Amino acid sequence: MEVGLEVKDLRAGYGLIEVLHGINLRVQPGELVTVIGPNGAGKSTLLRTISGLIRPKSGEIRLDAERLDRLEPDVIVRRGLIHVPEGRRIFSRLTVLENLEMGAYTRKESIASELEDIYKLFPILKERNSQRAGTLSGGEQQMLAIGRAMLAQPKLLVLDEPSMGLAPLIVRSIFDIIARIRARGVMVLLVEQNALQALGLADRGYVLENGRIVLEGPAQELLDSGEVRRSYLGESLQT
Ligand SMILES: Nc1ncnc2c1ncn2[C@@H]1O[C@H](COP(=O)(O)OP(=O)(O)O)[C@@H](O)[C@H]1O
Ligand SMILES: [Mg+2]
Repeated sequence: MEVGLEVKDLRAGYGLIEVLHGINLRVQPGELVTVIGPNGAGKSTLLRTISGLIRPKSGEIRLDAERLDRLEPDVIVRRGLIHVPEGRRIFSRLTVLENLEMGAYTRKESIASELEDIYKLFPILKERNSQRAGTLSGGEQQMLAIGRAMLAQPKLLVLDEPSMGLAPLIVRSIFDIIARIRARGVMVLLVEQNALQALGLADRGYVLENGRIVLEGPAQELLDSGEVRRSYLGESLQT
């Protein structure tokens, strides 16, 4: 039996427009996998399709061997696939604590101990737990979005450009937290334009261009590859 996430020959898009032209991708237990690629490549469309927000035209998506591609998004959440979308989407008028509680909406039991656990990853959220989320900095809002996702007890955490718009120092702490989440045994699928840092963190990577995977392999191999260095790591052809 295949375990983890398995995406096979996935085609999807918007209306008549096909954006993803046959994607094959895997995330195995314990893995942190990154999908890098330029703006408009289809990275967010891929994540939206995996989490059930877009229905694929064809292909298969499986989590621990179970087909997800015909399930509703809320059912997919209950299966343990949690998506932190681009732009964070926290509830800015609710408090930090209320936002975190939303992450646990599928559960009836007390979440006090899980909250303490999340506060260990994100001490700043504990400090600010009664503050309105809209008053947080961009980095803190990203932490809140990830913390909320963790309260849903993901098997697979899917992150769409968590570093977007954040200062380098903040990006480093976000990536550090992602590494710690993976160390807890959660599978992570990380979409990033920040190729260098994403590959630095990941076990394996895929390069997506114009809706197709053009390169894949161990993250270190991609970091060493001339093609990736020229296209994504800002190195000139002379070096
Ligand atoms: N809601 C939408 N409706 C129609 N086209 C869309 C929509 N969202 C994205 N697209 C198009 O799909 C393509 C891939 O976009 P996207 O998945 O957002 O790429 P990325 O996340 O890699 O920047 C782009 O050509 C974009 O214009
Ligand atoms: Mg995107």
